[in-house]
Amino acid sequence: MKTMIVTGGAGFIGSNFLFYMRRTAPEWRLVCLDKLTYAGNLSTLSPLMEDRMFSFVRGDIADRECVYALFEREKPTVVVNFAAETHVDRSIEDPAVFLQTNVMGTQVLLDACRDFAVERFHQVSTDEVYGDLPLDRPDLFFTETTPLRPSSPYSASKAGADLLCRAYGRTYDLPVTVSRCSNNYGPYQFPEKLIPLMIANALADKPLPVYGTGVNVRDWLYVEDHCAAIYDIIERGTPGSVYNVGGHNEMRNIDIVRMILRLLHKSESLITFVADRKGHDQRYAIDPTFIHRELGWLPKTSFADGLEKTVAWYRTNRTWWENIVNGEYRDYYERMYSNR
Ligand code: NAD
Ligand code: DAU
Repeated sequence: MKTMIVTGGAGFIGSNFLFYMRRTAPEWRLVCLDKLTYAGNLSTLSPLMEDRMFSFVRGDIADRECVYALFEREKPTVVVNFAAETHVDRSIEDPAVFLQTNVMGTQVLLDACRDFAVERFHQVSTDEVYGDLPLDRPDLFFTETTPLRPSSPYSASKAGADLLCRAYGRTYDLPVTVSRCSNNYGPYQFPEKLIPLMIANALADKPLPVYGTGVNVRDWLYVEDHCAAIYDIIERGTPGSVYNVGGHNEMRNIDIVRMILRLLHKSESLITFVADRKGHDQRYAIDPTFIHRELGWLPKTSFADGLEKTVAWYRTNRTWWENIVNGEYRDYYERMYSNR
């Protein structure tokens, strides 16, 4: 039987990936390793808990003893690493845990993959490793050969992990693939990130805090399309390769916020411009030619459809995010946004 260890599976993309795998590749036994930080939510995985082909283990990817014991027990065929500290604003506040989890944790996983001769290690990296593009050069895109030039402690830690994966591939012949995806959105995203934060605030008639003037551009992809790309890479990708993942869907933050308000029939007077993020990346834009040519991958969900589905999901799953915004996250929100 083939076993896949999915780290960070109680978070946003990891949980969507587990659901995607269960639907499209039921032959895999799935083992989720997650530390359950503030961003991990076990209730998200409740539909899988009774499944005999799924198990959940609480543990830290940077805890060598825990990781080695798990590998010894499960003898995984494939490991896919979603586990990370992921929020740029938190990394600006306190970078240390980003280095610990994102760099040191990835190293522990790579060592275990070598020692247990895992057939594939897939690292879920990010387009943020490239830094940003200027707003006045719409002709420029990130390709897989664009130099890495990260701007935040978060993206620097992801770049460190990304490069370490490639080094393990080259030095030890470890069969590693890396994907660098643009901004995801969809169900189960923690409401500290732009789209779910704006939906949650609009539903509660609270101000929508837009950083700076709202002209920064992100390249948005519906989470299920990212999950499909990752599984395609694991199944058919070439070890040693890096794949950019994105769907040519560049949007200014302010335009997204306005779309959300329109979908919820709320007034634009809720928009509040607040102090900008330090070192704020201007524009991300992915060139996905390589993954399309090599694996035939293309996104299936348009932004209009994806955003509508996402808004509908947050509307009908209020308890999921209300439990978060009413819990310890409240302190973070106060710290981050009051007097901003
Ligand atoms: P998330 O913050 O929603 O989830 C992260 C998960 O990792 C949580 O369940 C958390 O408990 C777990 N985790 C954190 N530290 C851990 C540790 N030390 N050991 C084990 N588990 C730990 O993140 P996400 O948005 O789902 O992102 C998943 C991955 O995808 C990350 O590696 C991120 O860098 C990458 N990525 C995200 C996006 C995006 O737009 N969200 C885009 C491209 C790449
Ligand atoms: O590009 C991929 C990356 O996308 C991932 O690697 C990261 O893990 C993920 O968090 C995301 O990073 P961003 O910084 O782009 O996402 P965030 O949702 O934090 O912000 C998106 C944009 O919206 C950014 O320009 C900042 C702005 N913003 C964000 C928040 C939280 C606001 O204007 N107001 C806000 O309150």
